[in-house]
Amino acid sequence: MDKIVILTGAGISAESGMGTFRDKDGLWTKVQLEDVATPEGFARNPQMVQDFYNLRRVGARAAKPNAAHTALARLQAHHTGDVIIVTQNVDSLHEAGGARDVIHMHGRLDGALCSGCGHRWAAPDEMTVDEACPGCGEPFGRPDVVWFGEMPYRMDEIYEHLGTTDLFVSIGTSGEVYPAASFVQEARVQGIRTLELNLEPSSGSAMFDESRLGPATEIVPAWVAEVLGEA
Ligand code: APR
Repeated sequence: MDKIVILTGAGISAESGMGTFRDKDGLWTKVQLEDVATPEGFARNPQMVQDFYNLRRVGARAAKPNAAHTALARLQAHHTGDVIIVTQNVDSLHEAGGARDVIHMHGRLDGALCSGCGHRWAAPDEMTVDEACPGCGEPFGRPDVVWFGEMPYRMDEIYEHLGTTDLFVSIGTSGEVYPAASFVQEARVQGIRTLELNLEPSSGSAMFDESRLGPATEIVPAWVAEVLGEA
């Protein structure tokens, strides 16, 4: 009845055509994260930030889940123990691949948030700078994504899962951004087994008991088959 907690990053969606952030042609080589992924950037130029997320939202809606997303959904459906998926990704490809109860610690592109009253609603394809909040009516609508300097979502729940799991698996993340990058240490200090599945060694590779390298669409289904006793 092994419980498994899985953290995913942009690498799991790379083969669905979604860009990653820090690879050679990653998103942060094209736009300054300070301009589009901070509250200060949004205050400075809300139009540019809404446009940036409108573009990413449309791209994410057109993307299809890949074999890695569907393999994790299969694991959730057939593994005897709980399988908790925590993602840093703001796309909904885990859900599109059949996964459930995914914890989006950095929010979601298909969500909108009112910076005035905190109301949340389903984001339209295109959000405007004076996007009215359906809750309070004020023009304070923003993408419901977590920007640098803001608190990621559902951290208590995540640490609760990290404290009660038998295995922690990190998939497709560079391990450059905290607090997600610290989850492996969190697991290690509690004597929990750790596994990394990534295209290349991440910043935290040395901290994992095991690190398997390769494209997610190959190494994730192979690992899931192993866990389900099919390999
Ligand atoms: N299969 C597996 N891993 C891959 C693949 C692939 N096909 N392609 C790339 N990767 C790996 C890269 O080797 C890299 O380690 O995915 C990782 C992507 O790292 P980042 O681009 O830094 O993305 P991520 O770790 O998710 O970034 C974390 O930073 O900018 C913020 O909020 C943003 O959630 C994001 C956070």
